[in-house]
Amino acid sequence: MEKKIAQISDIHFGEKTFSHELKNNLMAQLEEENPDLIIVAGDLTTEGYLHEYEDAAEFVEQLRTITNTYTIPGNHDARNVGLIHFENLIGHRKFVHLDKAGGFAVLGLDSAEPDINDGQIGMDQLDWLRTELEKIPNDVCKIVTFHHHLLPIPQTGRERNILLDSGDLMRTFVECGVDFVLNGHKHVPNAWMIEKMVTLNSGTATTRKLRGNTFSSHNEIIIRDDDIQVNLINTLTGDNRPMAHYSVKLEEEEYIICSYKHMVP
Ligand SMILES: [Fe+2]
Ligand SMILES: [Fe+2]
Repeated sequence: MEKKIAQISDIHFGEKTFSHELKNNLMAQLEEENPDLIIVAGDLTTEGYLHEYEDAAEFVEQLRTITNTYTIPGNHDARNVGLIHFENLIGHRKFVHLDKAGGFAVLGLDSAEPDINDGQIGMDQLDWLRTELEKIPNDVCKIVTFHHHLLPIPQTGRERNILLDSGDLMRTFVECGVDFVLNGHKHVPNAWMIEKMVTLNSGTATTRKLRGNTFSSHNEIIIRDDDIQVNLINTLTGDNRPMAHYSVKLEEEEYIICSYKHMVP
């Protein structure tokens, strides 16, 4: 069986470098990929304003015509009391998606704090996450997503905005057998593996708010029985190149990643 997740983030309606051309390209690319699930890992807007959310809601509706789509807020979405609009126009700020037949589960969390760029998950959400993870069978791939980056990302300048409780999160994720963490925020795609857990960051899909030689992009995650392939898709050119590959297996009924290769540009 093969299942596909599109990981996109940092859409930023209202941002001066937002590009309608890139947005249209992204839609066409997603239609061609035909994923089973789309995850929008935060920063739909720029200032959290209502008019930005109205554009974002239309965008999310379009995504939902392609396939099942989940969104979580980013730091920009929480500006100016924007989370009210998020809940009214976009949906819940956390979610659980279990695809037993496809062999994976995705749990989404809200890492955004009102009007500051720093993020945290907090004890309440962590307790909720632990409870929800216990309900997920051990033999499926466990994926957790939130906006802020869990680990430092190279080529992003001075380090800032790592989650305030990242150490406790990492301990909990490892203890609970989380296999993949999907983050956005830095606009730079990246992959790290620590313990037996992978963190995958997506770039900005639709803006030119870019650092160094990076380009607008999203990640395509292909889940198969024995391996997981991650591809990086350039929104401007459509170029699709391998970014990471993992071999996976069941060890005593527990899903684990047993080897990895990272090809981050
Ligand atoms: Fe962003
Ligand atoms: Fe962000």
